Amino acid sequence: MSKLRELVNSNNFKLNFWQTPSTFGRPVDVLVPLVSLLPVKSFLKSQGLEYAVTIEDLQIYQEMDNIAREFPDLVSKVEIGHSFEKRPMYVLKFSTGEGSRRPAIWLNAGIHSREWISQATAIWTARKIVSDYGKEPAITSILKKVDIFLLPVANPDGYVYTQTKNRLWRKTRSINPGSSCVGVDANRNWNASFAGEGASSNPCSEVYHGPRVHSEVEVKSVVDFIQNHGNFKCFIDIHSYSQLLMYPYGYTVKKAPDAEELDDVARRAATALASLSGTEYHVGPTCTTVYPASGSSMDWAYDHGIKYAFSFELRDTGHYGFLLPADQIIPTAEETWLGLKTIMEHVRDNLY
Ligand SMILES: *[C@@H]1O[C@H](CO)[C@@H](O)[C@H](O)[C@H]1NC(C)=O
Ligand SMILES: [Zn+2]
Repeated sequence: MSKLRELVNSNNFKLNFWQTPSTFGRPVDVLVPLVSLLPVKSFLKSQGLEYAVTIEDLQIYQEMDNIAREFPDLVSKVEIGHSFEKRPMYVLKFSTGEGSRRPAIWLNAGIHSREWISQATAIWTARKIVSDYGKEPAITSILKKVDIFLLPVANPDGYVYTQTKNRLWRKTRSINPGSSCVGVDANRNWNASFAGEGASSNPCSEVYHGPRVHSEVEVKSVVDFIQNHGNFKCFIDIHSYSQLLMYPYGYTVKKAPDAEELDDVARRAATALASLSGTEYHVGPTCTTVYPASGSSMDWAYDHGIKYAFSFELRDTGHYGFLLPADQIIPTAEETWLGLKTIMEHVRDNLY
């Protein structure tokens, strides 16, 4: 008991107690950050305290394992790399076909760690795909022709940081030599007019583009995976908040060559999304709809031949902002699914 109190009161291990020590001998539940895992285990051992790991990797990673285990014929978990702090980056691959290079769709979530509705929507979507496959005609026919790759936590270090230290952390957690400010905006770090308008060269800025193109290992891992695969037809990046559905470009006011088609798809997707509970989205190119943003994943995808490149900003329009209440997670995911499905059906019918 007193040894446990020592653990609670020590700030060294950065622990988050879910069940604090009690006098009546109930077990204690504690969330241990990866960096503290070994020291905490040896402390417990040295004190003769029994422990068991109940959740290896909190929540989302656990659910990814469950889905891959429950649907082995449809889903596999692929490790595409690791984060700056060495957390694995996992992608769920949904595929019904032979071969490794079928036309494919990339769904990206959580690149900005504080936008929690993004990671949550992604993991809900993974469960939705496996439950609907073989029952619902749209997703069944989409998966007959294309593979879907889903990255629910594109910025794992930032995500853990938002859970343990600063709920509103946006960037990666990489160290910036010569600066006391940490992290790079992983959505300004891609090779698409890198270091142009709408990004900052100041490491302390929330939109710091990083020292060079793809400096962030989280970004580089996705770039390498997509380029090695070589047959992605669609790239969708999921953010919050603002209720927007955008397409290229972010780095210039110039019209993308496919702007008309992309605008049409996006409008139909927004209409489908709104059909569930009336959530209204604005549709348009990033640069002229919100603000100039260079080095974004969406523009990178588009400039690398992935025509169907979109970016969602999910609920809400600012009342709760990043702190969207939990009771809006499922309604948001459900309506977003209708929008995603509209885009994916268009991709299915317009492979190039
Ligand atoms: C960035 O893209 C340009 C062409 O658009 C290419 O020449 C260059 O090698 C790329 N840089 C990296 C680091 O991928
Ligand atoms: Zn974002």
